[in-house]
Amino acid sequence: MEIFRISGGKTLCGTARVHGAKNSVLPIMAASLLARGTTVIENCPRLSDVGAAIKILTHLGCKIERDGERVAINSSSVTRCDIPHELMREMRSSVIFLGAVLGRCGEAVISTPGGCELGPRPVDLHISALRALGAEITVDGGNISCRAPKMRGGRITLEFPSVGATENTMLCAACCQGETVISNAAREPEIWDLQRYLTRLGYSVSGAGTPCVTVEGASISASTDMRVIPDRIVAATYLAAAACTGGDVEITDVIPRHLAAATDALAGMGCRISEGRGSVRINAAEKKRAIRPVYTSPYPGFPTDVQPQLMAACLSAEGTTVFVENIFENRYRHAEEMKRLGADIKTHGRVAMVTGVRRLRGAPVTSTDLRGGAALVLAALTAEGVSEVSGVRHIDRGYDDFEGVLRSLGADVGRAETPGN
Ligand code: UD1
Repeated sequence: MEIFRISGGKTLCGTARVHGAKNSVLPIMAASLLARGTTVIENCPRLSDVGAAIKILTHLGCKIERDGERVAINSSSVTRCDIPHELMREMRSSVIFLGAVLGRCGEAVISTPGGCELGPRPVDLHISALRALGAEITVDGGNISCRAPKMRGGRITLEFPSVGATENTMLCAACCQGETVISNAAREPEIWDLQRYLTRLGYSVSGAGTPCVTVEGASISASTDMRVIPDRIVAATYLAAAACTGGDVEITDVIPRHLAAATDALAGMGCRISEGRGSVRINAAEKKRAIRPVYTSPYPGFPTDVQPQLMAACLSAEGTTVFVENIFENRYRHAEEMKRLGADIKTHGRVAMVTGVRRLRGAPVTSTDLRGGAALVLAALTAEGVSEVSGVRHIDRGYDDFEGVLRSLGADVGRAETPGN
């Protein structure tokens, strides 16, 4: 088992480039099934989730070439419409293949994603939207089987602006006859990126970024290349790392407005934020103070995927910061581990109260999910002495060379293999 060994107390300074967005590239990889040609993704991050998506596409019959950050997906020939459980369970967001396989093949059989470390991961919104487009769906044991004898566009109102359900509906609707209008759609920048990709292929999609997305169905064979947007969650993680350590860091290759919720919160703590064209700089030399309650909510609200990293920055801020997690039921597991470092956190259901302490002490801690794991690394960077963060495989799902980037900013962090595992 791999761990990160961290000697805390270093102030992070310097410049870090942010890689392409995981939550953009995965839906686009699924959407490449609708290309019936070759898609070349230029800034594809080297993440284990991307590896899992490549395995799924290869299983379906696509030909893939991967060279560093360049991935070419030839989807001219798709030979199967099932995704076995072993492949589905490797990646949490594999359910986004459902709409694309169904649209491409007229049928799809996948296993249900089940629960995850963040709590239940229901897919009811995905299923009812695809049913509204004419799919016949049975959920039997661990499998979802879909057939689409006659798919027609329609009007769909999502009960909640789910990112995954919006993406699945867009992908399936692109293969339906006629127009689909999705109301209460998710507004995340990654939805806009998916629209950009589908438009490049020749599909007619509009409205991404607003609560109403319109998709005109078509049958298209096309090749295209694509640069996905920068990863706003990774960007926010490096900004929070600088805030944790009182550092001065510039992140480049970012879209500053996608980071507004995170940078507003960090500015509220007393960090100085300056935005350039495609870059954001944070100077956290001032003493940090607690901020107004942080409510996670769909974009443009505060992202649930940055809640753990912001919490890490609050551990040593003066005063008490309240977090209210509105998206996932079980997203404070990192808080228990932070307490092992000496943090003062009280959690009750969806609420966490974090009171800043003078010092954290290094300890062994365990990450159980991607962003929680990254946040534990951030907390360890501020702790006195040595910490060991296990569960590194979770962090590798979403950060390309996390320890390398942190080291380049001055952190003392290394990857090690624990003996006997
Ligand atoms: C996406 C992101 C994930 C991020 C999350 C919230 C990708 C690939 N994943 O996940 O990294 O943490 O958005 O920003 O982009 N829900 C239902 N029924 C459904 C679907 C969702 O009740 O059918 C609920 C979920 O339980 C959760 C909420 O809706 O409470 C948000 O889920 P959703 O926006 O769908 O998140 P994901 O697409 O899974």
